[in-house]
Amino acid sequence: MSFFTEFPVLETERLVLRQLRYEDGPDIQRYFTPELAKYYDWWPRTVAEGRGFVRFFKTGYREEQSIRWGITLKTNDKVIGTVGFSDFDHFSKAELGYELSREYWHMGIMCEALKAVIPFGFNEIEMHRIQASVFPQNEASLRLLEKLGFKREGLLRKFMYIKHRDAWEDCVILALLKEECDPALLSGATYVRRPGGSQY
Ligand SMILES: CC(C)(COP(=O)(O)OP(=O)(O)OC[C@H]1O[C@@H](n2cnc3c(N)ncnc32)[C@H](O)[C@@H]1OP(=O)(O)O)[C@@H](O)C(=O)NCCC(=O)NCCS
Repeated sequence: MSFFTEFPVLETERLVLRQLRYEDGPDIQRYFTPELAKYYDWWPRTVAEGRGFVRFFKTGYREEQSIRWGITLKTNDKVIGTVGFSDFDHFSKAELGYELSREYWHMGIMCEALKAVIPFGFNEIEMHRIQASVFPQNEASLRLLEKLGFKREGLLRKFMYIKHRDAWEDCVILALLKEECDPALLSGATYVRRPGGSQY
């Protein structure tokens, strides 16, 4: 797969989505406040674990298991969130994941990032299905996905063990199929920058 040969940098109106670097670890660890962390079973609590977060996704990319972009503003190279696909199944379907620093919520940033990542998934990776698993109380994430056309497919009861709450929690499964995707989203103006500087 060519996107595993050269990391695809995606560009939108306000954002550059680029490969994560070890030096992003401390910024990522800092934005994982308790408010954000409540939606995760694990999150980086120390600088070393922040680098571990980056290592996890670098390894996943090297082993062609996942691809995770660091979200940066065009005006600043600092990573303010991440987004990407994991659990590729024959590069035909995958799980979507993301998080954004609390400081940048409600500015349309994740929506803008997903408008680049989703067409990349359907057009470049050639997937037919993108899935997401969301806690029922995560209203922001559910609404974000539904706004982009994802459909709720069901509730997996007591599906995910959350160690820090010592509880098995329900998960809503949502998915977007390529054929259901809004054509305007599929053909959105997203540029993939190549190392030589060319774009498509
Ligand atoms: C979910 C998250 C990524 C949303 O990021 P964001 O950049 O603030 O979202 P956007 O501004 O792009 O919002 C897009 C749409 O999502 C919905 N939305 C976003 N935040 C919302 C909130 N707090 N409550 C209800 N709906 C919300 C709205 O429909 C919004 O569209 P609108 O502004 O036209 O109404 C962010 O809240 C986050 O990082 N949460 C914690 C981590 C997390 O939940 N990750 C996903 C785990 S499944």
